[in-house]
Amino acid sequence: MGKTTTTDEKATGHIAAVDEVAERVGTGRGMLIPILQQVQERIGYLPPEALERIAEHTEESAAGVFGVASFYSQFRLEPVGRFIIKVCHGTACHVQGAVAITEAICDELDVADGQTTADGRFTVESVACLGCCSLAPVMMIQEETFGRLTPDKARKIVREYGD
Ligand code: FES
Repeated sequence: MGKTTTTDEKATGHIAAVDEVAERVGTGRGMLIPILQQVQERIGYLPPEALERIAEHTEESAAGVFGVASFYSQFRLEPVGRFIIKVCHGTACHVQGAVAITEAICDELDVADGQTTADGRFTVESVACLGCCSLAPVMMIQEETFGRLTPDKARKIVREYGD
């Protein structure tokens, strides 16, 4: 059996990841956004211990870094699932029933919009136009696009995804 990673080991790994990023991109106030972006790319989200370490590298307060990370929607403060489901809620998709699509997916996966399933498999997100409005309503899972959805079709796709 593989070794289980403890919470402490995880946190240590996150701090090390911040240090590596800071070494590569540079430190100081002006580097806050680039560091946040790259740390998120490395870890997948921005856990509290990473934000605290980023504060040290950017001469900001931890609260200030947290404020910036929570202000911009590109930053995630919670871990994400293995697969990210982006349900388009742009105008074309909205009028074609995007709300019902999100509801069906959330019901199928037993998760709230914007959250990650308990098994860590899926994160469900509502997003702006995905750029393929002629296929509305649309969702993406990872890099794959699914169009002309119905609630039932969306349920079936997520049920069978990755099997
Ligand atoms: S509005 Fe959904 S793809 Fe454009």
